Amino acid sequence: MNAPLRAGQRWHEMMLDPTHDELARQEFIWMFRRQIAQNVEPALQVVCDGRVRKSFVKEHGREPNRKELRDAMLADPMVQTWSALRRNTWEAQWEAAGQAIERDLPNLIGRARRYRDSNHKLGSLELDPTVKVPRYNTEIEIHVVPGGYHAEITDDDVFAGALWDRVATIGEPERGQWGDLAGKRAVEWIKKRYPNLKPKRILDMGCTIGQNTLPFAEAFPKAEVHAIDVAAPCLRYGHARAESLGRKIHFSQQDAEHTRFADESFDLIYTNLLFHETSRAGVHNIFRECHRLLKPGGVMLHEDIGRSAKMNPTQVFMFDWMTHFAAEPFINGWADLDLFEVAEKAGFSRKNAVNEGPTGRTFAARK
Ligand SMILES: C[S@@+](CC[C@H](N)C(=O)[O-])C[C@H]1O[C@@H](n2cnc3c(N)ncnc32)[C@H](O)[C@@H]1O
Repeated sequence: MNAPLRAGQRWHEMMLDPTHDELARQEFIWMFRRQIAQNVEPALQVVCDGRVRKSFVKEHGREPNRKELRDAMLADPMVQTWSALRRNTWEAQWEAAGQAIERDLPNLIGRARRYRDSNHKLGSLELDPTVKVPRYNTEIEIHVVPGGYHAEITDDDVFAGALWDRVATIGEPERGQWGDLAGKRAVEWIKKRYPNLKPKRILDMGCTIGQNTLPFAEAFPKAEVHAIDVAAPCLRYGHARAESLGRKIHFSQQDAEHTRFADESFDLIYTNLLFHETSRAGVHNIFRECHRLLKPGGVMLHEDIGRSAKMNPTQVFMFDWMTHFAAEPFINGWADLDLFEVAEKAGFSRKNAVNEGPTGRTFAARK
């Protein structure tokens, strides 16, 4: 897709148009975050391996467990400084983008309505107000996003979708200027691993605004592509964004634990970063739902935070920190799960499942 680079991301019609001052504020915060990631965060490994673990082993004759590591790390002034910087810049990025989006919200809602009401739609948008947003999304503002993914403060609200687009694209450079690099990588992985899979129906669960759904529509142009989420503001925005980019995707508001699709509806099911924001019961239910929805021979591919057992101690500490201080309470729980066991319980055969990536971020199984 060709589009000019504007305000740090590839321009599309649903994108927020920040004013000069709004952009300056956003860029300051994102540069600051990048400085912390590049110049402060590497010191955590030095503290962890060179100071904290060494003195723990000297005193106790063994490696610290996760809680002991957290307690010892947080007693270190360097880690305290990083922790405060990370949490505060995290909050500031949502606020900086959020204020600009609030100013522009009537415009953004107007544009989304025009795509929703157009007689020339490519895909579709189906909202279902009876869908109950799970407690793991309503009880906490995940990664300190004000209002989370689902909050609605006005009619036909798209605030949460616009906020995700702005922050997850410009604030997370590894997602790419369209925020779709994970989806692109997933498509490549699928094609390499399952060269004979020619999916006719594809489902992205927990799609948010569908940034990573688009590569599937592009790579498999004959397939019918569906994207579900529980969060209506993200789906409204995502539908309008996909339409504005000329991509045919069917967005619907559904709970991935219990969807309305018929048995054996899909050849390929994809998730990116869904599970670590759910719960233990939620993971089991979604794996079971994938098994119900896949046709025989169909594939599910899940990309998320990796396995604790494959992480080094600093990585374990970082995810543990997010679990306790960045409103991501299920990260440790997800990282500790044996996904082969979860898949087996859901009806998949262990021999048809794979877990790849340096920390085991990629999990896939064929039905
Ligand atoms: C981190 S975001 C996913 C990002 C997105 N997949 C991407 O690649 O840009 C997690 C999303 O999962 C959604 N979600 C959480 N639990 C869900 C459930 N049970 N069913 C459907 N969506 C869910 C949230 O509303 C949120 O939009």
